[in-house]
Amino acid sequence: MSEKKFELTCLETGKKSTAEVRSGTLGPSVLSIASLPKEHGLFAFDPGFMATASCESKITFIDGEAGVLLYRGIPIEQLAEKSSFLEVAYLLVNGELPTAEQLAEFTHAIQYHTMINESLLRFFNGFQYNAHPMAMLSGVVASLAAFYHDSMDINNPRHREIFAHRIIAKIPTIAAAAYKHALGQPFIYPRNDLDYCANLLHMFFAVPCEPYEVDPVSAQALDLLFILHADHEQNASTSTVRLAGSTGANPYAAISAGISALWGPAHGGANEAVLAMLEQIGTVENVPKFIARAKDRNDPFRLMGFGHRVYKNYDPRATIIRAMCHKVLAKLGKSDNPLFELALRLEEIALKDEYFVERRLYPNVDFYSGIIYSAIGIPQSMFTVMFAIARTVGWVAHWQEMISDPTMKIGRPRQLYTGPTQRDYVEIDKR
Ligand code: SDX
Repeated sequence: MSEKKFELTCLETGKKSTAEVRSGTLGPSVLSIASLPKEHGLFAFDPGFMATASCESKITFIDGEAGVLLYRGIPIEQLAEKSSFLEVAYLLVNGELPTAEQLAEFTHAIQYHTMINESLLRFFNGFQYNAHPMAMLSGVVASLAAFYHDSMDINNPRHREIFAHRIIAKIPTIAAAAYKHALGQPFIYPRNDLDYCANLLHMFFAVPCEPYEVDPVSAQALDLLFILHADHEQNASTSTVRLAGSTGANPYAAISAGISALWGPAHGGANEAVLAMLEQIGTVENVPKFIARAKDRNDPFRLMGFGHRVYKNYDPRATIIRAMCHKVLAKLGKSDNPLFELALRLEEIALKDEYFVERRLYPNVDFYSGIIYSAIGIPQSMFTVMFAIARTVGWVAHWQEMISDPTMKIGRPRQLYTGPTQRDYVEIDKR
């Protein structure tokens, strides 16, 4: 859309070229720089992609200045209030909210794909009991590619749909198997009479020797957290899934790559790091000391759950989760949660501090989510796994969007080379 033009002129040689500006439906326009190498013999240089749009997408829109997040145009606040995770999954993957019939069909398809091949369960026996669940999750998800040869033609829309159903359905089962392995408890099979989040909690916490009743408050809280974590445009893990998928790799391998990227503490691993940080701070009296450390350039300590590449305002998801904390903790009879009180005071102190104000560092989605995960019984080691379960929907949506784009090309960035110029090999006795 909109063909404004930019003129690029080399000031040394006077050589000129024009570059097309493309506008989307919302947000900043983009400058197409494809002609730079040919016209000027130059690459654009943008480490960390701070100013680069890597693709065109219709899935999620973020306005970092205004703190806006839209899934297929619908504000996250409305979806959080009115929708369910599987309905949001349908919206993100298919582009529109489902009719009642479409939602029933989608829910049935997911429910009837929740079991995993029995031989996959034996994979877990190869892991130490203390293996990090994210390592088990990425390994076992990649192994799904070894099971589904019948539906691996990525150019076949029906195969892409079956992949979407399988991975969205199975990721909670695999996550629960990883958790049970870590506990040394028997694996609990999924149940088709439970909804998505209740099924997950049942697989996590049920044991064969007694009945287990899923707490509806916990299931509802998890459903809302999954809605909030489902997608976030071209974040690091989604960009990883797109890059891996752009080679034509098996989609399960692309999702596994996304899981590994999400694991980092600068990204999805932050929710686990926030709880560890709050426990390390311990009391409100220690907050100033840790704030000082977070501001000290020579100290690698950062305030986990604070700051964001895009949001230079409050992360709208953090706003919703913080409000949720009050409600969920009260409903679970845990209102006096000391870590939540500490988190609230830490936020209050940080947001009055010039360092954070100047750099526009606000709480992000990870700052409060762990408080709720803890309250519903999820252990810290599984926090990022929870993030991965929800974000699988976004990864699938972006993978589908990319693979079904006939103009898709393999992702292959270039570089600024600053290594040695050409030189000859030196025999070892002459070095
Ligand atoms: C997620 O991209 C997404 O959309 C991600 C995500 C999603 O849904 O997919 O939203 C999920 O990953 C949320 C972010 C979770 N990570 C954390 O909470 C870890 C702590 N945050 C930081 O590591 C950092 O804020 C990032 C990684 C989130 C963003 O880093 P940027 O955009 O590269 O910013 P930066 O590192 O250049 O920081 C700018 C300045 C620096 O100070 P100066 O060099 O200008 O003096 O702010 C400082 C940073 O040192 N800074 C912090 C800080 N975050 C940034 N200082 C202290 N504590 C922090 N948390």
